Amino acid sequence: MRFSEDFLSELRSRADIEEIIGKYTEIRHRGSRTPVCLCPFHTEKTPSFVVYRDTQSYYCFGCGAGGDVITFIRNIERLDYTEAVRFLCERTGMNMPTDPVDDEYARLRRRCYEANREAARFFHSALFSEKGKQAREYLERRQLTAETIKHFGLGFAPDSWDSLLKHLKAKGFSDVELVSFDLAKRTQKGNTIDAFRNRLMFPIIDLRGNVIAFGGRVLDDSKPKYLNTSDTVVYKKSQGLYALNFAKNDSSRRLILCEGYMDVIAMHQAGFTTAVAGLGTAFTNEQISLLSRYCDELVLAFDSDEAGVKATQRALKMLSNSTMKLRVLHLAGGKDPDEIIKTYGKERMRAIIEGAVNDTEFALLQAKKKYDTTVEDGKLGYLNEAVMLLADINNAIERDLYISRLATELNVARDSILSQVNKASKNKAKIRQRQEFDKILKEAVGDDGGRNPNPQRRQFLKAAKAEEMLLALLMKNPDYFRKLSGKLSADIFVTDYNKRIFEGFEQRITDGRSLELSVLSEDNGNEEMGYLAYLLALSGNVANTVEQCEECIKVLLQEKNRKKIPEIGQMSDDEFRAMFEQIRKNTNKKDV
Ligand code: GTP
Ligand code: MN
Repeated sequence: MRFSEDFLSELRSRADIEEIIGKYTEIRHRGSRTPVCLCPFHTEKTPSFVVYRDTQSYYCFGCGAGGDVITFIRNIERLDYTEAVRFLCERTGMNMPTDPVDDEYARLRRRCYEANREAARFFHSALFSEKGKQAREYLERRQLTAETIKHFGLGFAPDSWDSLLKHLKAKGFSDVELVSFDLAKRTQKGNTIDAFRNRLMFPIIDLRGNVIAFGGRVLDDSKPKYLNTSDTVVYKKSQGLYALNFAKNDSSRRLILCEGYMDVIAMHQAGFTTAVAGLGTAFTNEQISLLSRYCDELVLAFDSDEAGVKATQRALKMLSNSTMKLRVLHLAGGKDPDEIIKTYGKERMRAIIEGAVNDTEFALLQAKKKYDTTVEDGKLGYLNEAVMLLADINNAIERDLYISRLATELNVARDSILSQVNKASKNKAKIRQRQEFDKILKEAVGDDGGRNPNPQRRQFLKAAKAEEMLLALLMKNPDYFRKLSGKLSADIFVTDYNKRIFEGFEQRITDGRSLELSVLSEDNGNEEMGYLAYLLALSGNVANTVEQCEECIKVLLQEKNRKKIPEIGQMSDDEFRAMFEQIRKNTNKKDV
């Protein structure tokens, strides 16, 4: 849906970006011209997320997220463009403009929500019908109460090719829709069949209470054990967390991350209502940022088998920059939380949660497992690994504590461990410094870690930088288009990416539309919005003058000629030799 510029500028003035962002992350240096804060899109300990009041934009120098207030809401609330505008309207008390042409995408999403909700109802009632007898017996064996089954809306997909299909088609949904919502599949012969058959069904519910997907479990040992909805217009597997819709309501700000659906359900039934789980994918960064919005302490409760321990180590590594306090459950005597609760009861589970070790203790335990510490060699091996782990701890008191504990545990002099740890931590600091230096060096040669989306930037670094500055200046001073007429055209651009952006600007200027970031977001996707916000951020210290633009144009005209040199791959042998000679001559000149 397209909105008028008047409307968008009104929205922009009411929905102050600093105020809106301040609701999601604590803004520091409020008084300054450019407040900074911890980025809500990635986990970090030092703030690199900057809010620009003058351009009403934000940019994170850590992860490259950036844009205007609408982009921010789209990403943080995971809404599409129109929904984000609606969200901001509600926040600021504005009326959403009504448009007779309904947004096709929004309509599709609504249909998907409706189909999923209808499917969940169908599965749930099938569970309690004659056909659901086996599934009911299965749930009984797994000791789920009627209340739990209802709370989680569990259901059963009957053992039939088309029972859900028939039901939903009678409700007005088409084959095409149901296939795209992943409730049905197309066979090779071209028939449409139910996607879930003869499975116990777990509806996945988002934070607004919509059914967005399903997980389906077999009732026996056949494979695959679990089947999940693939990504659809309303669902992205890598972003979801099962039962977060319930768990987020707890005031403890402590979440327990389990591996599976059944673990979560067993935990909730036992009273641990802060349990959540991923949705059949490996742990993702998107899930980390979602988790960190709802908790300050994350307890990892993955399976106790080898795969679970590996997953825990991987997750801890991914979480190492997070501000969340981390703890790990030691599920002695059972494979997963579900088994522990069933075998030993919920009091044991409570004790396990209370006794959860923190991330350092977990790493130490895992290291210790590898060695036989009753012999000297094993002791030494463990000690070496432990020293490296302790060298990572920044808090001196905490580090001291572990050193004392380790000294007692291994019967080694405390001071000798201390000096080892200090040495290791100095080494690590050196390595960090080196990495920092490499980063700066890379930035100087134009390698920004792949964050700048312009694919030709490295090849034509000087030109790309001039283009970036020019685009930023034009965004801030659209009147320069007229002032520079005759000098400014798409032809002077060297890289295609910036050229395309310039052409977009030009079109808007011709159409009499604005270049405000808040208006640009209707035409540009996330990547471009981040890029444009980045350009604005970088242009903060540059003089806003026509002369500055003319400087950029001059650079571009010079660089344009350089571009004429054909790319090495396309050169003939003679051309290549000639170029090689040229380079050698230039180099020699410098030497003398
Ligand atoms: P139960 O056997 O019912 O107790 O399941 P569980 O929760 O113990 O599951 P398990 O430890 O086997 O797996 C943990 C999680 O991994 C499940 O909840 C699923 O999300 C996922 N998973 C397991 N098996 C499969 C599979 O075959 N396919 C997919 N896509 N995901 C699976
Ligand atoms: Mn299990």
